Amino acid sequence: MSLPNYVKIVEVGPRDGLQNEKQTVPAEVKIELVHRLQAAGLTEIEVTSYVSPKWVPQMADNTAVMAGIKRKNIVRYSVLTPNLQGFNAAVASEKELWPQEIVVFAAASEAFSQKNINCSIEESIERFRPVVAAAKEKHVSVRGAISCAVGCPYEGDVAPSQVTKVAELMHAIGVEHVGVADTIGVGTPIKVQRAIQAALQVYGINEVSGHFHDTYGQALSNTLRCLEMGVWQFDTSIAGLGGCPYAKGATGNVATEDVVYMLQGMGIDTGIDLDKLIDAGQYISDYLQRPTNSRVAKALFSKRAA
Ligand code: HMG
Ligand code: MG
Repeated sequence: MSLPNYVKIVEVGPRDGLQNEKQTVPAEVKIELVHRLQAAGLTEIEVTSYVSPKWVPQMADNTAVMAGIKRKNIVRYSVLTPNLQGFNAAVASEKELWPQEIVVFAAASEAFSQKNINCSIEESIERFRPVVAAAKEKHVSVRGAISCAVGCPYEGDVAPSQVTKVAELMHAIGVEHVGVADTIGVGTPIKVQRAIQAALQVYGINEVSGHFHDTYGQALSNTLRCLEMGVWQFDTSIAGLGGCPYAKGATGNVATEDVVYMLQGMGIDTGIDLDKLIDAGQYISDYLQRPTNSRVAKALFSKRAA
């Protein structure tokens, strides 16, 4: 078994973490969160979404948030863009304010595709086609997310062949990297392994990442299984915040703090300062007036208090 020496964490808290919040989180708070995350050493931050504000009101301040961040050169800022309208909005301002990467998101289940983005899987790919072309023309990187890669809130178990099919469709339109997403957190290590293997039939190991919601408490086990397979890129969310408004009952992504703690304990480098990360999690948890979902943050708070 050869584990990676380095793991790249893509922090999705400002986007996936906050998109489902009922209370409006002001742009200043989102910006401060991004500042604290980058101060903790995160170099990949998914900041916001250019989606319909009627569908996801919390992300309506996308342009203000992107404009308010004091950027660091080493950080890559990404945003979700489901269609050309979203992409054009993301690059409407001067180049310094563009995202360096956009994310197009499809589903491995038809029902979820309809609920989340109001179209079939094939239609979603046709919407992404001009988005990918426009991004490439502007030298913006393109990542794809494959939602419900293990299970769907409407259809139940999802076959790995569905993941391969979506990966093939994404690859054919020029998507450079795919994230295998367990949107509702039902996966267990062998199921997740199969979903990852399905993506690896199309993309190389350096172009596949894991995105695991932790609804059933399996996300760290699933992450470990992926590490053993050589996967070295994962999306995680500060304080374990998050969920998708169109995946009822799904909780947040695996907490960044918990993944970083696990990796540190395994001697795997992330470049992240766990203490500063805990502070970033404390900041957003205090704002939301909710205890953190990170087990590591809870344990370290108790230790600090003692
Ligand atoms: P639609 O209604 O089919 O779109 O929605 P449409 O093209 O027919 O347009 C209808 C209205 O939406 C129009 O406005 C458009 O201007 C507007 P109106 O004339 O009615 O006032 N519109 C937009 N506004 C702003 N930005 C845009 C945009 N596009 C259209 N880009 C659409 C299709 C995709 C827009 C809609 O379904 C939508 O916004 N869905 C939200 C999806 C979403 O954000 N889900 C959560 C993120 S995905 C996720 O969390 C999963 C992930 O974490 C991985 C995992 O865990 O699985 C990534
Ligand atoms: Mg997600």
